[in-house]
Amino acid sequence: MAKQKTLYTCTECGGQAPKWQGQCPACGAWNTLVETVAEQASTNRFQSLAKNAPVQRLADIEAADVPRFSTGVSEFDRVLGGGLVAGGVVLIGGDPGIGKSTLLLQSLGEIASERRALYVSGEESAAQIALRAQRLSLLDPQSKASELKLLAEIQLERIQATIEAERPDVAVIDSIQTIYSDALTSAPGSVAQVRECAAQLTRVAKQSGTAIIMVGHVTKEGNLAGPRVLEHIVDTVLYFEGDTHSSFRLVRAFKNRFGAVNELGVFAMTERGLRGVSNPSALFLSQHEQTVPGSCVLVTQEGSRPLLVEIQALVDTAHVPNPRRLAVGLEQNRLALLLAVLHKHAGIACFDQDVFLNAVGGVKITEPAADLAVLLAIQSSLRNKPLPKGLFVFGEVGLAGEIRPSPRGQDRLKEAAKLGFSIAVIPKANAPKQPVEGLRVIAVERIEQAIDQVRELD
Ligand code: TYD
Ligand code: MG
Repeated sequence: MAKQKTLYTCTECGGQAPKWQGQCPACGAWNTLVETVAEQASTNRFQSLAKNAPVQRLADIEAADVPRFSTGVSEFDRVLGGGLVAGGVVLIGGDPGIGKSTLLLQSLGEIASERRALYVSGEESAAQIALRAQRLSLLDPQSKASELKLLAEIQLERIQATIEAERPDVAVIDSIQTIYSDALTSAPGSVAQVRECAAQLTRVAKQSGTAIIMVGHVTKEGNLAGPRVLEHIVDTVLYFEGDTHSSFRLVRAFKNRFGAVNELGVFAMTERGLRGVSNPSALFLSQHEQTVPGSCVLVTQEGSRPLLVEIQALVDTAHVPNPRRLAVGLEQNRLALLLAVLHKHAGIACFDQDVFLNAVGGVKITEPAADLAVLLAIQSSLRNKPLPKGLFVFGEVGLAGEIRPSPRGQDRLKEAAKLGFSIAVIPKANAPKQPVEGLRVIAVERIEQAIDQVRELD
């Protein structure tokens, strides 16, 4: 096959150059030129599509619900919004060793008993996958997973041909960073290769109706490696989270064209693969015999389920001129902002203190409803006084020191009460109209009021 012509395209402005340059000649941005396949003017690949799809009036289109099929793993179905969609493209990212390949192999094993499934691995040999399948008991005689097709391949064109020949209902590409296209000279994993391979595979999915699940590597910061456009091309972006040292794993939807985002799938890694945890609300609490300073329980809402997460703070005298501010599982910048609010409105200064913050269990909390828990944990650690037993909180803290309401307050209260928590410090606007049984609700409007109320409980 003759080499296709390539060009260098700027990722910022789309400007093109025949050779690689450090600076884009069109917009002047540095280091933005990546190799792309030059489109030939004669082969207009959209022409045939335009012929088949006439323009329609919105009112004439039947809004049919997309047919879905189950992945065979109920927590995985939950994050996907009910299952896989024919022709849908899912990108799943996560740290190495977190369980991406395990989850996908397990799921394909289930799917293979009823549908055609193809697992393309660019990272492991077929023998390695078989070894894992054995561990997941997919090779047992009574298991129907033996129908699953495997392909150890990294060349895009051959993968495309296999998908077209096999016509599977689901194909997994593990991982997109290992695949390369012959049309480009750059190395697998480079921005240009990842973009081209993802775009081609997406086209295959849409044309053949095969649902494609791509595994993506993540960078040190936890973002998907490769071009940002990757997230735009695909229909669904999922992230695997969790502490590799604990057995719990979370799969979070980040973007989903076929369902709600922020839905959370919870798994436990066991000897024999991932097990779904259907009732995860109490997973992220550490079991203290006695209450300890610096710990505060937060009720966070993840998709349709409330989760109780313990927020831990450690405030200690700093021995260096600029004290340390470290947040694990929570936003670092938000911590700086909250410390300023704490000083300005509640008169509690931490400028000579190191402040460390952690969300237990490796869960990542992005919602601002965690603010109140962060501040109460910090003041508790600073005073070295534990918060009362059975206390939980939620609520956003504004720059003016006000406590703002959080969505779905009633659900959060109910979940915490169900797990035996008895005192709630919550935003005034979230206060329940009727008393909740076994729950003492302290509704607060300002941060200083929240701290005073908590101190009175000592
Ligand atoms: P893997 O799916 O290979 O991770 P990824 O594809 O995201 O890089 O997960 C491998 C880890 O999971 C590995 O450290 C071993 C562990 N594991 C189990 O604990 N139990 C099992 O049954 C399997 C298959 C893996
Ligand atoms: Mg893997």
